[in-house]
Amino acid sequence: MDKLFIFDTTLRDGEQVPGCQLNTIEKIEVAKALEMLGVDVIEAGFPVSSPGDFNSVVEISKAMTWPTICALTRAVEKDIEVAAQALKYAKKKRIHTGIGTSEYHIRYKFNSTQEEILERAIACVKYAKRYVEDVEFYAEDAGRTDNEYLARVVQAVVNAGATVVNIPDTTGYCLPTEYGAKIKYLIDNVDMKNAILSTHCHQDLGMATANSIMGVLNGARQVEVTINGIGERAGNTSLEEVVMAIRSHKELKIETNINTQRIYPTSRMISSLMNMPIQPNKAIVGRNAFAHSSGIHQDGVLKNLSTYEIIDPKDVGIDDNAIVLTARSGRAALKNRLSLLGIEVDDDHLSELYQRFLEIADRKKDITDEDILALAGKETDKMHRIKLDFMQTTSGKGVKCIGVVGLDIAGEKFQASATGNGPVDAAIKAVKEIIKRQMVIEEFLIQAINKGSDDTGKVHMQVSHEGQNYYGFSAHTDIVVASVEAFINAVNKFVI
Ligand code: KIV
Ligand code: ZN
Repeated sequence: MDKLFIFDTTLRDGEQVPGCQLNTIEKIEVAKALEMLGVDVIEAGFPVSSPGDFNSVVEISKAMTWPTICALTRAVEKDIEVAAQALKYAKKKRIHTGIGTSEYHIRYKFNSTQEEILERAIACVKYAKRYVEDVEFYAEDAGRTDNEYLARVVQAVVNAGATVVNIPDTTGYCLPTEYGAKIKYLIDNVDMKNAILSTHCHQDLGMATANSIMGVLNGARQVEVTINGIGERAGNTSLEEVVMAIRSHKELKIETNINTQRIYPTSRMISSLMNMPIQPNKAIVGRNAFAHSSGIHQDGVLKNLSTYEIIDPKDVGIDDNAIVLTARSGRAALKNRLSLLGIEVDDDHLSELYQRFLEIADRKKDITDEDILALAGKETDKMHRIKLDFMQTTSGKGVKCIGVVGLDIAGEKFQASATGNGPVDAAIKAVKEIIKRQMVIEEFLIQAINKGSDDTGKVHMQVSHEGQNYYGFSAHTDIVVASVEAFINAVNKFVI
């Protein structure tokens, strides 16, 4: 069996998505979940980009035990120095440095020449080697870089000491055959010494997983991925798809270190924390990924699972019989469940979550992992200036929908009512009566967590205010309350 290294960039490339930004504590939670999942490398951030990113790399480096912690830089000495500083506490550290190599980048971004870029590539690797042994070089936009020139760059950086060379299809442009041929060309024409090639494929044309797999089939031994495929524009390659494709095809004789049973909980946790809902038909982790609804399929699956199922849902951590918590469960049970889901909490946070857990348990018989993740993902409103004090709506067919809302704004109480074309519209209009700002709901997504009419609904909302977008999230068994809370959550981000 050949080992395929899994390089997770959820916290760097994934986190570049507007509205997905996490604070340091949340990033540590994600990193711990990734460690439990078994990823080999965690790209923790781009330290020179902001003090917040710097600090997150420092704290993640301290918190992780065995994965390599990687920090991104441009081919700039200052970036490399800052990255090395941020990685100070990492037990295993890597600097990921690089530069654009396509004609588009060389001409339009750098106004430079191939020879100059080659020199800068060598120089940045040599500079990073002064600080760490493990240096990964990325040839940005390698997908659109001429193979002959790319091979010269790869050879030069390997000679300079790069341990991994990343071949990003930055724009998601390549066809799988083309990307596979590129990796093969490099394997055939470069003396890689002990270095390995890495894939880093974007999803712009929906081919990220196919391209990554073609890269692996042609000799790449590291894949750069994110959980749920999150990332800028159409996203990155999703970890779960590559890992399960490799695992399902034993004939490839390739293995990863991923504990696949952690895939589903990790995916749910990250979706909640990052306010990024998962499309129901998403491969491996979508709600419908294993739901056989057509009669012909159901008949086959009942006779023998292998007729229509290529993966046992339990292998990715979906367990319909998972232990559920109820109103009688204690704090220890909640803490244990959180921990199994990769969320470690201190006593104060546990008390707060436990109160909210009891509120849900009052309204819902069985509390599942999904509820717990939504509960943990929901921001505490302790620090918020605007809080929902109470609300009541009337709705129905043939009647006017009315919303009455009470808000607590920095300790002062306000109340308003409004009518609307539905209860959510009425209640949000009532909120707008109190907070008289220009604010427009740009996106509004309601998702049931599990099944059943007593289920918790998750609401993601994007609200624009003075040309900026703000994101809100909430979860509640009453979807009208969840909607209003998500709206208030977003508003709290600009009403300071
Ligand atoms: O897509 C890309 O090219 C990148 C590099 C910075 C590695 O994310
Ligand atoms: Zn990228």
